[in-house]
Amino acid sequence: MAYLLSKENFLKMSEFVYRKSGIYLEEEKHYEKLAKYVDARAEALGVDNFRKYFFNLRFEDKEGDEFQKLMNGVTVNETYFYIEKDQFEALLNKKIHELHATLPASKTLRILSSPCSTGEEPYSMILHIVEEGKVVEERDIEVVGIDIDSSVIEKAKRAKYSERSIHAIPKDVLSRWFKKKSLGYELGEELQGSVDFQVANVFDKTQMRNLGKFDVIFSRNMLIYFDDASRKEVAMTFYDMLNPGGYVLLGHAEYMSRIVSVFKAKKIDNTLIYQK
Ligand SMILES: C[S@@+](CC[C@H](N)C(=O)[O-])C[C@H]1O[C@@H](n2cnc3c(N)ncnc32)[C@H](O)[C@@H]1O
Repeated sequence: MAYLLSKENFLKMSEFVYRKSGIYLEEEKHYEKLAKYVDARAEALGVDNFRKYFFNLRFEDKEGDEFQKLMNGVTVNETYFYIEKDQFEALLNKKIHELHATLPASKTLRILSSPCSTGEEPYSMILHIVEEGKVVEERDIEVVGIDIDSSVIEKAKRAKYSERSIHAIPKDVLSRWFKKKSLGYELGEELQGSVDFQVANVFDKTQMRNLGKFDVIFSRNMLIYFDDASRKEVAMTFYDMLNPGGYVLLGHAEYMSRIVSVFKAKKIDNTLIYQK
């Protein structure tokens, strides 16, 4: 059976996705998935050709629901607790003391996980912070997690995780902060609500500005899905969102020096962090 989305229209659709979200879809890798998605949405909307679906998406989607569904359909949300854990250790066991010592006593230390997917990354920060113990007793710390995909934000708020998700958490930490359920694990009540989760698009300047200023931004494993121009734009958005002296951390395969030159790179053990 032929799909409603022709190869030619795939280009229109991928150009739309790219313009709105920075996500670059390649025909070879993504055509089939996107074509199935368009068929399913067209059926749900009761339209029988691509043109009507695309018109609806661009011009009749006043509340942004159709756009949100599309985003939820095209994102790659792979993550797990303590992923690339050297970075949590570098930042949260070492640099956090320095930040704590330099910030005025009344100031909240703010950390952004952008993107946070289903919440494992920001909750891993919380686990490192509470396990470290001292700083959290002396300073208000706020962790915010954002993602363009509303379905992962809903899951993050539920804080229920599979065996696969929690496999890298040290056993003693797991038993202190999680409850074993018949299927997987649930974050304990004392840590539920410890992250402020929000749906936001890193290309939406208003949404990003409304999040306020941060001392640390983790942005791991998202820029790899963007092209150079989009990476640059997002890196500069993060620069503007950081307090002076604040830090950005990227995924292991991502290097700020290849994107923009406004940050100072610093090495802590084997981890590179970038300072404003
Ligand atoms: C592979 S996950 C990374 C999660 C986590 N940071 C990690 O390293 O494990 C990539 C996430 O980027 C999100 N994403 C993609 N484009 C985005 C955008 N324009 N704004 C916000 N989030 C975006 C996706 O929805 C997805 O959940």
